[in-house]
Amino acid sequence: MLLTYLGHASFLVETGQSRLLFDPFIRPNPLAASISLDELQPDAVLLSHGHEDHVADAEAILKSSGALLISNYEIVSWYQARGITQAHPMNLGGSASFPFGRVKMVQAIHSSVMPDGAYGGNPGGFVLETPERCFYFAGDTALTLDMKLIADQFDLDFAILPIGDNFTMGPADAALAATYCGASRVIGVHYNTFPYIAIDTAQARKAFEVMDVELLLPAIGETLEL
Ligand code: NI
Ligand code: MN
Repeated sequence: MLLTYLGHASFLVETGQSRLLFDPFIRPNPLAASISLDELQPDAVLLSHGHEDHVADAEAILKSSGALLISNYEIVSWYQARGITQAHPMNLGGSASFPFGRVKMVQAIHSSVMPDGAYGGNPGGFVLETPERCFYFAGDTALTLDMKLIADQFDLDFAILPIGDNFTMGPADAALAATYCGASRVIGVHYNTFPYIAIDTAQARKAFEVMDVELLLPAIGETLEL
C-alpha cells in the first residue's frame, strides 16, 4: 500500500487497483503548491466532515474524475445537489463494502458545517479494511475513549491522526489515541498548515516516543510504502 501525503489532512492511498483520496484541501494550501489535482485520478473520495479545510477541492476532483464520493448522508446530499451522481452515503457506526475493501464510519468529536453554511451532519473518521492493510483515519477529532472500540474490532496496521492541537488532538493526546485504537504506527496530519495549528515537531516526536508509538511525518508530496 502506498500513501502520499498531500498536505494538511489530505492524502492519497493506492491499494490494489484503487486510488483513494481523503479530505482534499490542496489548491487553497500554499504549502501544497507542488501537488497537481489532475495527477490524483482517484477512484473514490472520502470526506470526514464538511469543513473547508477538508473538502475544498472535492467538487472539482469528483467532477473531473467521476470518482465515488463516500461520506456521511448530509455531505453526500449536499454534493448530489451540486450534480455529483457517484456517491455512497454512510453514517456513524455503519460499514459498507467497496471494490477496494470495507469501510466503517466511526465517531469523531468535532463539528461539521459545509463551506456555504449548510448543515454537514456529524463529523466522522473511517476504518478501512483492504486486502493489503487495515488503517484508521480519524478525521478531525478530540481524544475519546471510543477509540478503544477500534482496537476491540480491528487489528490496525497504522492510523492517520491529527496532531496540530487547538482544533483537534495535540501530539500527547494523539499518542494516547494511538494506544487506545491499537496503532503502533501513526502518520501525523493537520499540523503546521496555519498559525493556530503550528506545533513543535521535535516535541511531538517525543510525545510519541514516550508512548512507544512510531510517528511518521512525511513531507508534502512524499509517498510512504506501508
Ligand atoms: Ni474540522
Ligand atoms: Mn480541520
